[in-house]
Amino acid sequence: MHPALSRAQAFCDRFDLQVPILMAPMGGASPAELAIAVANAGGMGGCGALSLSPGQIADWAAAFRAGSSGPFQINTWVPDPAPRRDAAHEAALRKFVARFGPQPDADAADRPLPDFGAQCEAMLAAKPPVISSVMGLFPPSFVAQLHAQGITWFATVTTVREALDAEQAGADVLIVQGAGAGGHRGSFDADAAKRQMAGLFSLLPAISDRVAIPIVASGGIADGRGIAAALILGASAVSLGSVFLRCHESQIPAAWKEALATTLPEDTVITRAFSGRAARALMNDYVRATLAPDAPAPAPYPVQRNLTAAMSGAARAANDMHAMYALGGESSALARAEPAAETVRRLWAGARDLLAA
Ligand SMILES: Cc1cc2nc3c(=O)[nH]c(=O)nc-3n(C[C@H](O)[C@H](O)[C@H](O)COP(=O)(O)O)c2cc1C
Repeated sequence: MHPALSRAQAFCDRFDLQVPILMAPMGGASPAELAIAVANAGGMGGCGALSLSPGQIADWAAAFRAGSSGPFQINTWVPDPAPRRDAAHEAALRKFVARFGPQPDADAADRPLPDFGAQCEAMLAAKPPVISSVMGLFPPSFVAQLHAQGITWFATVTTVREALDAEQAGADVLIVQGAGAGGHRGSFDADAAKRQMAGLFSLLPAISDRVAIPIVASGGIADGRGIAAALILGASAVSLGSVFLRCHESQIPAAWKEALATTLPEDTVITRAFSGRAARALMNDYVRATLAPDAPAPAPYPVQRNLTAAMSGAARAANDMHAMYALGGESSALARAEPAAETVRRLWAGARDLLAA
């Protein structure tokens, strides 16, 4: 057997998987129905809990378990330091985003994020096999708690240094996110997110040569060729986001699904314009306008996220791509409108054929 297949098999055996494919946790885009379909096809389901309350986290886990006895992960963001506030700048941003949607409320920028500590409690109470971090490392006390409960910690990293830090902090598995990934860059330091854009082809060998724990590859993988390449480069499994967004069980707006189908790698853009944190999104009128030399620079996360929430909500409700907060990776066009089980089957069959050849 090809050594890459043996490594993947060991990972599958450890995490109760039939195929080394994880549904990436996607905040606002990981309904239990999609996770159930992926897990029942032999992969791992995922929940992006960033904007979920503790009750919603419990409900998601209950809904998942009602549909699948397979493995799943719950994920949340490690909070950034409190953002620097600038009232005059925020007023300019309020005016700017009102060109693309409703005027944000006067106190929109002050809206608090869901409490991280309460989310951690809720994740522990849901007892998933895996809890994953992004944007930093979990505090040591939480790592000790999840390990005491037999839960595995998957840490998202975007550089070799972050990988070494995560291994040192007790991560059991690394999710290595390359620059082509859809959604937010998981960089520990928000300021480094746009500067340090290492690609998966360089990150996988560099990290697998230096760490002893298994690696899951993420970012721009959307067919069997990408999976086979990632496994050969040192990964034990892959974590896929954009390729599942067009599936029947995905609940994103139809216009976003359609746009993914024709999005070439160069049609995606790294932007802070939606949340204040660097994310790879599909280019649209709003993002293009934010690139104009006289456009106000985005505020830090989560101020920018709060200021654009009304605009994003309205665009979503209207199924209107012009100002939609539509995230997607460089390989989005490889996604197909089909049941998620078929995506899992098709992608793994393609990878296995290449590795067995
Ligand atoms: C819509 C969307 C939402 C995402 N939300 C999260 C999130 O909440 N937490 C996280 O760790 N990663 C998130 N990601 C990143 C994914 O976990 C993963 O790294 C990425 O989708 C992989 O690249 P791909 O989309 O090219 O497959 C998100 C990605 C997308 C497309």
